[in-house]
Amino acid sequence: MQHEQQVAIINRIFAHIEKRTTDMSLAIGLNPVEEYFSPAWQASEQRYLFHDRAQLLGLRGLLRDAGDHLVDDLGGASLLLVRTPGGPIHGFHNVCRHRGAALVQHGGQCARSFTCPYHGWSYDLDGVPITLKDLHYPQLPPVERQLTAVGVSETHGLIWVHPHAGAAIPIELHGLEQELEAYRLQDFFHYKTRRLQRRMNWKMVIDTFLESAHFPFLHRESIASLFIPSLGIFDAFGDHCRMIYPRKTINTLRGTDECGWDLLRHSIIIYVLFPNTLLIWQLDHVEVWRTYPDPSGDPAQCVAEVSMYIPQPADSDKARAHWDANMRILIRTVEEEDFPIVEAVQRGLRSGAQSHLTFGCHEPGLIHFHARLQQAMVD
Ligand code: FES
Ligand SMILES: [Fe+2]
Repeated sequence: MQHEQQVAIINRIFAHIEKRTTDMSLAIGLNPVEEYFSPAWQASEQRYLFHDRAQLLGLRGLLRDAGDHLVDDLGGASLLLVRTPGGPIHGFHNVCRHRGAALVQHGGQCARSFTCPYHGWSYDLDGVPITLKDLHYPQLPPVERQLTAVGVSETHGLIWVHPHAGAAIPIELHGLEQELEAYRLQDFFHYKTRRLQRRMNWKMVIDTFLESAHFPFLHRESIASLFIPSLGIFDAFGDHCRMIYPRKTINTLRGTDECGWDLLRHSIIIYVLFPNTLLIWQLDHVEVWRTYPDPSGDPAQCVAEVSMYIPQPADSDKARAHWDANMRILIRTVEEEDFPIVEAVQRGLRSGAQSHLTFGCHEPGLIHFHARLQQAMVD
């Protein structure tokens, strides 16, 4: 985020602290409970939110050098992505064109080709078979031999995948471009990824991060004391949005020269990158959350991944201990505090006690996110 923008936001924060206010929506939001458990609703989401849109995979650090590759199946289909020597990332369905075996089992580095474990067809990094005997497949046209491509885009250090498009697709950031560019996300290194399976709808992973009103209650013993209570800065960027929760340390900037103000050291900055990912700035590192409906099709279950990206490679025991401790705090907070209560919410939704969830005016992030989801499903 550019410095002048940080200064403007810090001034908004100071004004709120003085008046004991927070950013507000004009009206409350009423969110139908079916959104969280209806199979028909989820079928529409699959069509309008996941099938027809690019989704964030992560930061460039996942695939830094030529030959770096990974297998991603979080969204259902198994996809193979590889950094080519020319620079661009190529993406394919991880399905051998001979008889459909999974071509690659795990990610790795330095790949120059991929060899299928079933009958040994080998493909180069463009997905073209290199060992096929024409004698055996005389009528098979080239297009039937090559791996099936999926769309991949890379912008501002972010990698996006469109599993249902054969070519790169333009990514709409709706005004976030310069702000994201200023983080220099392309320079971050991937540290670790954890996968979670929970008995709650995929959207609840996002909802968890979109208000801080629960901090003094649910996180009383952990992170609540770090943050200014009930204060959130909200801004919308098309379908995307940003929530900022200031830390109490921001008060140390009062009365100091604005030239030295640094919002990034005194807040948590959360971007919802529509429809299903969170990019979170956490003082000195970045976290990316991706959440999807569970492959079983049950709307009351989800699969999610959180990845930690760090500014320098963790090449010492001390560095690894530091980042492991960060990862532990992150996982413990959501796994032991947020998600158990959210799973109880998921169970309560089916009770018939209410037809909708209520989002207060002081929860503009939730109102925006769900309004945009619903709008996307009728567009
Ligand atoms: S299925 Fe891959 S070589 Fe036969
Ligand atoms: Fe929380």
